[in-house]
Amino acid sequence: MKGFVWFLLGGLLAMQIGLAAALGQATPSPKKQEAAEVKACAEMAFTGFRPIADNRAQRFQGKVTELSVLCRGGQNAVKFRMTPWIDFTNYWGTGDSSSLPKGYLSTSASQFRGVSGALLDLEYQRIELIKFNLFDNAGTYQDYVAGRNGLSGAALKTWPQLRLPQSDPNYIFVGGDGEQICKGQLIRARTLTGICNDIRNPLMGSTGMPFARNAEFETTFPDLEQTQLTKNRHGGRINLLTPDPQVISRKLFTRAQSNSDLCNRGFGLPNNSPDANCDYQKAPFFNVLAAYWIQFMTHDWFSHMEEGHNAGEMMEVGCTTQKVNGVETPLTPDDIQRLGCRPSDRVDKTYLLQDSPPDQFTSGGRTYLTRAPKTFFNNNTAWWDASQLYGFDDTSVKRVKRDPKDAAKMLLEPVSGVGGGYLPVLSAGDPAQPQWAGQESVAFPDNWSIGLSFYHNLFAREHNSFVDEFRKQAARKPTADSGLRNPSDPKKVVRNQDVSDEELFDAARLVVAAEIAKIHTIEWTPQLLYNEPLYKGMNANWNGLLGTGDPDTSKALADVVTRGFGHSKNATKESQWYSVFASGPGIFGMGSKSPHYDVSNPNDVNGGVNHFGSPFNFPEEFVTVYRLHPLVPDLIEYRDVSKDPNQIVQKVAVIETFEGKATDEMRSRGLANWGLSLGRQRLGLLALHNHPQFLQNIRLPRFDTPTQQVDIGALDLIRDREHGVPRFNEFRRQYGLRSLTSYDDFVDQHLATDSAARKEQAEIVSQLREVYGTHVCDASKVITDAQVNEDGSPINDCLGHPNGSVVDNIEDVDTVVGWLAESTRPHGFAISETQFVVFIVNASRRLFSDRFFTSSFRPEFYTQLGVDWVNNNGPVGLMMEAGTPNGHKQPVSPLKRVLMRNVPELTPELQHVVNAFDPWGRDRGQYYSLEWKPRPDAATDPAFKQ
Ligand code: HEM
Repeated sequence: MKGFVWFLLGGLLAMQIGLAAALGQATPSPKKQEAAEVKACAEMAFTGFRPIADNRAQRFQGKVTELSVLCRGGQNAVKFRMTPWIDFTNYWGTGDSSSLPKGYLSTSASQFRGVSGALLDLEYQRIELIKFNLFDNAGTYQDYVAGRNGLSGAALKTWPQLRLPQSDPNYIFVGGDGEQICKGQLIRARTLTGICNDIRNPLMGSTGMPFARNAEFETTFPDLEQTQLTKNRHGGRINLLTPDPQVISRKLFTRAQSNSDLCNRGFGLPNNSPDANCDYQKAPFFNVLAAYWIQFMTHDWFSHMEEGHNAGEMMEVGCTTQKVNGVETPLTPDDIQRLGCRPSDRVDKTYLLQDSPPDQFTSGGRTYLTRAPKTFFNNNTAWWDASQLYGFDDTSVKRVKRDPKDAAKMLLEPVSGVGGGYLPVLSAGDPAQPQWAGQESVAFPDNWSIGLSFYHNLFAREHNSFVDEFRKQAARKPTADSGLRNPSDPKKVVRNQDVSDEELFDAARLVVAAEIAKIHTIEWTPQLLYNEPLYKGMNANWNGLLGTGDPDTSKALADVVTRGFGHSKNATKESQWYSVFASGPGIFGMGSKSPHYDVSNPNDVNGGVNHFGSPFNFPEEFVTVYRLHPLVPDLIEYRDVSKDPNQIVQKVAVIETFEGKATDEMRSRGLANWGLSLGRQRLGLLALHNHPQFLQNIRLPRFDTPTQQVDIGALDLIRDREHGVPRFNEFRRQYGLRSLTSYDDFVDQHLATDSAARKEQAEIVSQLREVYGTHVCDASKVITDAQVNEDGSPINDCLGHPNGSVVDNIEDVDTVVGWLAESTRPHGFAISETQFVVFIVNASRRLFSDRFFTSSFRPEFYTQLGVDWVNNNGPVGLMMEAGTPNGHKQPVSPLKRVLMRNVPELTPELQHVVNAFDPWGRDRGQYYSLEWKPRPDAATDPAFKQ
């Protein structure tokens, strides 16, 4: 079997060499270069594959050998090998057309070497992330390390900690004290609280389970200084409010304004005048619809808050000290005035699950903690189950309204003046917080925004579109097989006419959740990470590297994965190679293809999931990298679809579309106009000095505090500190990325030394030095065990600088600040490489662990119409996009189809759009261009003149 793995990886490598070798006789200059690369490829082949690391210190850091870099990206790529940043950024074909060589015999061969090399690097990263970064907080960690009953930890599939407790109403039904297995009604669809997704681990991913970690428990909560390593790393310099979070926000997060009167701290001008302007750094290839999409997603995945609040006790949030000549010094009233921060802001503390000292255990001569020093609940289901729409507990589900005329549908009501149905507004009897007054009645109503209103209404319509289509089909063929089966009576065909309202509602929910997952995987993410390797990689997660064109091979590989590895007792096979193989057939639908599939057989229903030995939940570190508030602009460039879409008729302050005002705005202007406006506008770059002004000054009347205000940028830092997220440099080491040795490492070496961008980055370096400071280092202090220096020596306080020299306090940089400061990024990356690596492991696991995306993606659960709808992006079969965008023949994207189906007024505008998250007026140009250039009929759009 292992031979087969080598065959798969070897195939990729052999293709690289084979294609390269065909070009071997080149003579003139670029061709000489090409020949040198081909030679490097051949030599690289003889050295064989890099082994998967045995321990954390040896792991792959996204850095390959000089030969590999030369083979995949030529001399230019070799030049950037010495930076801390991953290598694949510099390979051929991983950028826009300028990343393809000039004067080579074949650019496609070099592109292939670069892109497939990048995919190999990503797969290595994923394998090692799965191997080294899973830390469950629910009590299973000891078994993961030490194994159980002769089975190694990484191969475990069930955990006693994930059994339903006696207090659960389904306790007896799943087996009580005996072996627990969910069955019958509990496994037919997604449950309210997320129990029984994994039928042998009923509690996994359900509401209220602890957040996991991706960082070793010992290295979390660095300000507690519980180990000598963390003591050495931070030298007593950090705690909850040091360095001061509001000062960091004001000095490093504030958006500079060319004319602050026109911005008016994010409030714009009276009557939504289009003359208002709030400057922000914009991403040319990603729109505001994409910003709100990810807010919509996070409300599905996780929440530290409960019903719109944290734990009751209030705490200070800074604006008290700053570093002066390296010493924390109280702010004077003048300083406060100049910075614009607020010392009397207060905020409620985060909810805590456990803070008693964790137990310890010993295994293989090493002592471990059984969990992190503090743990926190995820108050949402961790599944990608559209719980923000459908509910996640008894309270939230009461806000989900059904149509009394057809109980399979969501309640939508007409609103005069704007077409189509809209969600009803919260009414007196609904469970609600005062701040939600006037909002749409939805399961997850918190931090309500115009974008959330947009997506909640859109997907409620999509839910109903599915129900309508099913009803039409049932009317046409009432006795035909719907595809559904009841696991308690598996042989009985459920005819279309026999599908109950409840069953149809549940099937529609499954379809909507799967569509959302598909949009996120193959539409949002490839635009977030707009380059060829990621286009291929994300489509591989969904359809497999083999795509949809070769179903037989795809199925054969899927069988090899689930049968050969999914049930293996060998931890190496189980964890490492499963991931590699899954990239062949794709994760989605894994284990669902058996011709003898039987819904009463748990091995069929659950057989496609893989948790890699550690139960699934999001880690705290995942929440950190989704603190994406800079994506949001201060003002929305509002357009009217019935007039000229190229005209910005108003500038609406985002703060005036917050909470109940979002609902008013949605109902007065309608989905189509908001869709057009959010679709055309560019979102904010994830960078320092790019936080919305309105979020730094937001008023939250639920606080009984002197200001009732809070700075959300500062709060993002405080929450991470409360949750014990390691600071940036250790965070990177934990994920197998190179750490930095000074603030200067943030400067992008690709930029010309005299360029304006480089000067700006140098300026940011001095601001970081001012805020976080420096210290005289002590080389005798080892600061980490997650990585070693290249020569094998431990990393110490001097980070490679001479003992006793003044070094930057780079170890203290908050993780959010660090990833915002990362200017060296792969082409088209709207996020940084640090965020990306967190995403590689968790986005894959979110699919791998969910049976409804793997072995239960079947008509027995979804209906046949449902399976076809998800596969084809709607009811009428797969539609193909015109032409070959970026060289790919591809189906019309799933969100574009959802929009055209449910907001038909947008269809003319969407004709030109390939990816609904690319600004709609932009000309995509050739091969992953990031140019901000209008398509011909958008030439008069003033957004292109800015
Ligand atoms: C109008 C736009 C938005 C507003 C008003 C807003 C406001 C807030 C507020 C008040 C919090 C709670 C802070 C706390 O007490 O811990 C929060 C948390 C958060 N926000 Fe936003 N936000 C907005 C947009 C976004 C967007 C676009 C994202 C992108 C992913 C995002 C991601 C998050 C995350 C990850 C948290 C932490 C949630 C948790 O700890 O469970 N927000 N936001």
